[in-house]
Amino acid sequence: MRIGVLTGGGDAPGLNPAIAGVVERAVLDGHEIIGLKRGWEALSVRENDRHILPLGPEIIREYSRLGGSKLQCSRTNPVSEDNDRTDLVKENMKKLKLDAVIAIGGEDTLGAAAILAERGVRVVGIPKTIDRDLVGTEYTLGYDTALNVICDSAERIAHTAESHQTIFLLEVMGRHAGWLALRGGEAAFADVVLIPEHSFSIKQLTAVLHERMATSMKQGFEQLYKMIVVSEGSHIEGEDAVRRDSQLDEFGHYSLGGVGNYLKGLLEHQFKHTRYTALAYLQRGAPPSQKDRQMGRRFGHNAVEMLKNEEFGFMVALKKSRLTKTDLKEVKKSPSLVDVDRFYDTEKLNVKIAWTDISE
Ligand code: F6P
Repeated sequence: MRIGVLTGGGDAPGLNPAIAGVVERAVLDGHEIIGLKRGWEALSVRENDRHILPLGPEIIREYSRLGGSKLQCSRTNPVSEDNDRTDLVKENMKKLKLDAVIAIGGEDTLGAAAILAERGVRVVGIPKTIDRDLVGTEYTLGYDTALNVICDSAERIAHTAESHQTIFLLEVMGRHAGWLALRGGEAAFADVVLIPEHSFSIKQLTAVLHERMATSMKQGFEQLYKMIVVSEGSHIEGEDAVRRDSQLDEFGHYSLGGVGNYLKGLLEHQFKHTRYTALAYLQRGAPPSQKDRQMGRRFGHNAVEMLKNEEFGFMVALKKSRLTKTDLKEVKKSPSLVDVDRFYDTEKLNVKIAWTDISE
């Protein structure tokens, strides 16, 4: 088989190990692998010579440890309503003599893959997104590394916050899903975790912070600094999430960001020293963790296996600790969001620790 592999959407740690896994398995099974640069763009333009990168076993060692994507990413939508390029994708696959494509991406890239699969394109998917918001899989590449960055950063922030007795807002990514904030904040022992799935009032947030301070005092230590891990999509009751700019991408998403700074402005009247840091792209650019390397490699192997079995229109998935597959049509159904009743304490504005499972 001659297989094309592409990475679409925002980059995530684990993409390069997944490409390395695909190549490793393809070489073992005697297939040819072609890298398609810049996601679906490679198959959605007429002049695509510069998008093509033959891949051989020599890339495995290097790709296995690198963050980002050596194949580059784009948010190109080949099936957008006002510019549908399905026929061009098919033409390009014919021109490049590709038998099938492995698309590594999140909701948008794999959503496009699902539509293309319905229209006869031989494609399988590999799930990636630091947001961990894809349905049909318990793991998405990039999530573990991003969590580790949040945890390490919170540790650093705690040192400076402690020195100045600061109310510190640490803003993390995740778009409309609170997983990064919830699990990152949990590991960082954050005083408050704000997630998009539950809106709050400034009155409640202030009360929770005062209560946390009073408890520290009662316990006999003057730890007045407090850490708030705030998801970029979280918002005050009755308000929209804070947008970074007004531009929409090809899939109709606007960029979120700045809620930490916004909340700082509202809290600084009540607390002496408030500061804010957004981790932003530092979460995405880190070298892949052990888990992202291992899962990338395994997802890569399984994707080639699925092509061999002609399981087109599916994505590799992790379910109940087993590698399996999910119909790509599932991906578009709805994002996988934090189940507030199960995992979030709406009074303390924090993760529920006691009596809950941590399966997600
Ligand atoms: O989906 C991954 C993600 O990093 C989100 O957490 C974030 O909201 C978005 O991508 C940022 O997108 P962009 O790279 O287009 O700024």
